[in-house]
Amino acid sequence: MQLADIGVYGLGTMGSALALNLAENGFRVAVSNRESDWIAPFLDEAGPMARGIVGHARLADFVAGLERPRVVLFMIPSGAPMDEMIAAITPMLAKGDTIIDAGNADFNETRRRSADLAAQGLHFVGLGVSGGEEGARTGPSMMMGGSVQSWDRLRPMAEAVAARFAGVPCVDRVGPDGAGHFVKTVHNGIEYADMQIIAELYGLMRDGAGQEAAEIGAVFDGWREGPLQSYLVDTTAAVLQAVDPLTGQAMVDVIEDRAGQKGTGRWTVIEALKLGQSASGIEAAVGARSWSAAKEVRHAAQARFGAAGAADMPQAVVLGQAFEAARLLAHAQGFSILRAASEAFDWSLDLARIAEIWRAGCIIRSRLLDDLAVALRSLDAAPEAQSLLLAPGMAARLEASVPALRQVVGAAVAAGLPVPAMSACLAWFDAMRQGRGTANLIQGQRDFFGAHGFRRVDRDGDHHGPWGA
Ligand code: 6PG
Repeated sequence: MQLADIGVYGLGTMGSALALNLAENGFRVAVSNRESDWIAPFLDEAGPMARGIVGHARLADFVAGLERPRVVLFMIPSGAPMDEMIAAITPMLAKGDTIIDAGNADFNETRRRSADLAAQGLHFVGLGVSGGEEGARTGPSMMMGGSVQSWDRLRPMAEAVAARFAGVPCVDRVGPDGAGHFVKTVHNGIEYADMQIIAELYGLMRDGAGQEAAEIGAVFDGWREGPLQSYLVDTTAAVLQAVDPLTGQAMVDVIEDRAGQKGTGRWTVIEALKLGQSASGIEAAVGARSWSAAKEVRHAAQARFGAAGAADMPQAVVLGQAFEAARLLAHAQGFSILRAASEAFDWSLDLARIAEIWRAGCIIRSRLLDDLAVALRSLDAAPEAQSLLLAPGMAARLEASVPALRQVVGAAVAAGLPVPAMSACLAWFDAMRQGRGTANLIQGQRDFFGAHGFRRVDRDGDHHGPWGA
């Protein structure tokens, strides 16, 4: 029997789609699953592609069916299930073999697992995979964190199955150990912010301008070309224009307004804060999902305080410019987190390459990412600019679009319509362009009640104020 190039363990939606993608690209794939009765139906559905796939009910047979050094990709729930599978499979592996966790995992756990397995001579890869089921099947965007040796082994397969942008595969080794999962986490944080900004624009058009879902969908349709072009805009236009087959109403109008979350957005915020960063647009997006859960309170408070009234909403063209500014600012915050993590963990992340990987295949793919890739390359050459806000191309774009964001946020605030992510992005921009801020007063207060000391603008050293006098 011919040995397989790679083993895929976990035949849920994403694992099945990746296994089929690998087989379609000519790789021999061994598959297995905790519930072994999933294997036969998967092979049935694979049809002619099943010729390149061998299913194994027993873990030992699955491992024995792999070419050495072995590559085993797990697409299973993160956390304890991953640790259980590592414990089960490692005794069957040999030095130099690679275990890949291709799920959304907490990068801290990925770092711990990498260190544990490295001590046993095994490679552990944290692979961020984006693009949902369709992406996994036809070309995901992938962010690999792991050793150079494991990348050499994985690379031909990863590049063959990944999405491509202008012929360049949207996959790369971004750094060691947890770097891939970290970058994927921040991708998801940006995804949360982008989705929330879009939802806020929808809210302004629905509640401020009194537009119907289909009309709003048509506005998003109009943004599908040009600077706002993105997968999430396409998705939004389609969702808003879909009709519920049961009632004939707009589908979006019969969907309950409580958003779920699996945790990656929250991880982004937690890690950003630990790194001394504040990704306020992403924080607002995570927070807004939590607020959405408080349905009963929202109803009671609307009855008590009244609903926001119709507002004088800016035209669609202004909303589009505001969207452009807020989206750019949310991305800039995401890249600031990546920059901080790169320094803290000594990862040497190539931020421009990360933007390139995100140009196709992933959920946040957009024209903006192509422009950001160029801007980040130019920042490499002029590191003193420090921030995407100041990068060539981006600064001019902000200058042109921030006034619209200010107009939209102002109109929303005046009408009482919530725009937490857009206003947070705007506040960040305003804080970042304020050469003289207000933290001098914070320092005075800290020194007053805690004798924490402060630095003066006019002389060196640590100083205290005359509070006791
Ligand atoms: C992707 C997505 C994918 C998924 C996340 C976020 O890049 O393909 O980010 O990983 O959508 O699970 O989901 P939640 O919104 O449930 O947190």
